[in-house]
Amino acid sequence: EKCGYSHFMLKEIMEQPEAVRKTISPRLVNREIVLEELNDAKELMKNISRIYIVACGSAYHVGMVGKYAWEKLLHIPVEACLASEFRYSEPLLGESSLVIVISQSGETLDSMAALREAKRKGSKVLSIVNVMGSSIARESDYVLYTWAGPEIAVATTKAYTTQMVLLLMLGNYLTKQLNRIEQDEYAAIIRELQSLPEKISVILNNLEHYQKTAANYFNHNSIFYIGRNLDYALGLEGSLKLKEKSLSNIVEVKSRGAEVIALTTELTVNQIGSQASEMFVIPKTHLLLQPVLGVIPLQLFAYYVALNRGCDIDKPRNLAKSVTVE
Ligand code: F6R
Repeated sequence: EKCGYSHFMLKEIMEQPEAVRKTISPRLVNREIVLEELNDAKELMKNISRIYIVACGSAYHVGMVGKYAWEKLLHIPVEACLASEFRYSEPLLGESSLVIVISQSGETLDSMAALREAKRKGSKVLSIVNVMGSSIARESDYVLYTWAGPEIAVATTKAYTTQMVLLLMLGNYLTKQLNRIEQDEYAAIIRELQSLPEKISVILNNLEHYQKTAANYFNHNSIFYIGRNLDYALGLEGSLKLKEKSLSNIVEVKSRGAEVIALTTELTVNQIGSQASEMFVIPKTHLLLQPVLGVIPLQLFAYYVALNRGCDIDKPRNLAKSVTVE
């Protein structure tokens, strides 16, 4: 079942080019994003003045990226909410709010409860789900499926990347339907969407690098992930400024005795390279799609660190694949 891989997690990491391709390609027709599931996007978005993206765990992290990308694309307020907090935070629900629920399993109890609360208060619910016919899929007004295939390892990988890609596609689709995006920008995003599977493969072709780096770092007591907010939301100048800032963060951390592994794109290798002990380089892509590629080195690093530490990779201690109790 693991097709020669030592763990489901690695198998599923390696399946990402295919999972992303299956999620994207049926929805790209003649260089247009087509989401038949939504039939009338203008109707769906009519009177919507606020969007909530609600999810748990990794799916919530997808929502956090979505918040930045969608606000930039749609020019309306978007909030990413942890499903477990949603019911208790008195969200502004009603007909003018659209609620997006993201869930691999479609069975996570907190996400389900948030969905029901949203519907009870009169909001439309659109879900992004991997498991067909799951509870969340059944109770949503609209469902977009990620075509990641079954995900067995508890730590999500291919479901995460496909959720991300689909959420970004949906944002671009809506902004196009609402005429809120320049044609050039839209065309550039479509081109880059098409090349994502290939670019993921490029990263995955270099497993030895992650294996080696993990072997060097696995016995450190702590690893900190440092980064500024999603700098793509700030445009080119802002992005440049933030990069300069993150460079000075690296110098600061190093001067306090830490070693630095930098995750960077081909464009900034030279700037960053002189400061970092190790680099994970991803191919260049559209800024909005960068998080799809950026997560792959982090998955591989986590996998090989866990392997070196002798962890139970596919079933980490005290974690369940989907949490269906409160
Ligand atoms: C982390 C992980 C969990 C899930 C979370 C939501 O690797 O898998 O954090 O993301 O439990 O699960 P779903 O997406 O099934 O609702």
